[in-house]
Amino acid sequence: MRTLITGGTLVGPLGAAPTDVLVDGETVAALLAPPAALGASARGAAGGGPAASGAGRPAVDADRVIDATGKYVIPGGVDVHTHMELPFGGTAASDTFATGSAAAAWGGTTTIVDFAVQRTGEVVEEGLAAWHAKAEGQCAIDYGFHMIMGGVDEAALKAMDSLVAHEGVTSFKLFMAYPGVFFSDDGQILRAMQRAADSGATIMMHAENGLAIDVLVAQALARGDTDPIHHGLTRPSALEGEATHRASVLAQVAGNPPLYFVHLSASEALGVVSAARAAGRNVFAETCPQYLYLSLEEHLGAPGFEGAKYVASPPLRTNTAPHADDLWRGLRTDDLAVVSTDHCPFCLKEQKELGRGDFSKIPNGIGTVEHRIDLIYQGVVTGKISLQRWVETCATTPARMFGLYPRKGVIAPGSDADIVVYDPNATTTISAATHHMNLDHSAWEGFEIAGKVDTVLSRGSVVVSGGQFSGRAGHGRYVPRGLSQYLR
Ligand code: URP
Ligand code: ZN
Ligand code: ZN
Ligand code: ZN
Repeated sequence: MRTLITGGTLVGPLGAAPTDVLVDGETVAALLAPPAALGASARGAAGGGPAASGAGRPAVDADRVIDATGKYVIPGGVDVHTHMELPFGGTAASDTFATGSAAAAWGGTTTIVDFAVQRTGEVVEEGLAAWHAKAEGQCAIDYGFHMIMGGVDEAALKAMDSLVAHEGVTSFKLFMAYPGVFFSDDGQILRAMQRAADSGATIMMHAENGLAIDVLVAQALARGDTDPIHHGLTRPSALEGEATHRASVLAQVAGNPPLYFVHLSASEALGVVSAARAAGRNVFAETCPQYLYLSLEEHLGAPGFEGAKYVASPPLRTNTAPHADDLWRGLRTDDLAVVSTDHCPFCLKEQKELGRGDFSKIPNGIGTVEHRIDLIYQGVVTGKISLQRWVETCATTPARMFGLYPRKGVIAPGSDADIVVYDPNATTTISAATHHMNLDHSAWEGFEIAGKVDTVLSRGSVVVSGGQFSGRAGHGRYVPRGLSQYLR
């Protein structure tokens, strides 16, 4: 099957240019100057020209032609932070690999990297096998795994090397938050970092001082402060900054493994990352749409129990300080290299409800996997980031950061044909009534989006087109990953 995507503007990290894309089977076969461009010297630069076989270019033989006139053609999104079916807080994230990966596809994301879990006393390899069992045959798009290390001991440290060498799992998430759940102490963190420094693996860090937070939480509950907003008030941004600094120092002592801060939310933490990067260190960070658009006051502080929809860790930050502005600046300067979602949806009914009367029992997480490409495109519309930066932060850099490039994250000959045709002239309004995530509400309800995902190809198969889903569970394959290709 040969598919020609014609008439569109191809956007990559190097720029945007009118380019036709020929797909053969599952991969990109060629990038072609559009017929109009080839004839341009004779006919003037303007004009769309006929699609497949205009003047100046030999006819292209294709079984299917996708007309992308007036639209952007971008690499499929790579969301390197999702938690499908994650057991958490006495329940489990409401999207399965089937529902969550389909929702991702609807939103122009064609690869997810989810987190397999090992807890204290559990065997790392068994945790990984359990996540393979959940995802196998279920995904509409390709997927990989990071490993959450919730119990760093001798066996777990050994397993890190084996996962890097044999399983295509090259990144390990550690938690300075959640004592008694996923928490590692500084000694465990140091040892895991030393191991990563040896193997080349990336350490992903959830940087919040969980022990201090637990004290603040207990004090708030004792005062009778039980509403969702106290989730935010008991997790101050200074404790994200402190943990970020501590992790950065530990990594330096451990021999400088690549260190990647997940879901960075606060100016203090960004300052630490910027300083480490200015010193030439291999320190990286991602942020998530919720920290760019939502706030402690407006969302977590919504009346009644509404704020529960917005409980995630780190929490939404105050809009009385320039956290969000700083994060947008970080995205421009590459101190924030990636936008991921930290997709971890819990329904209000029966899940978020577990924390009515005690904010500390609200399962942590927001569902965004369907909306990342749209939400970050709004930064292009408002002039906060460039078109290229949109593609870079949502597709190219996450692919390079986590060893998926150039198979993913770029439209180039030989790459997987994971391609999104994006219509900048269409508009949509986000709503739980129309989204495809398995979630009874939306943190993004009513958000007006300038732009719309038009067509999505996953390894050459059309999975979304004309408002219809044509993907299938099981089309998506496990993608073993290499080491980070984003080191300095
Ligand atoms: O609130 C969040 N972020 N839930 C998912 C788990 C994590 O820490 O990433
Ligand atoms: Zn996580
Ligand atoms: Zn986390
Ligand atoms: Zn997460």
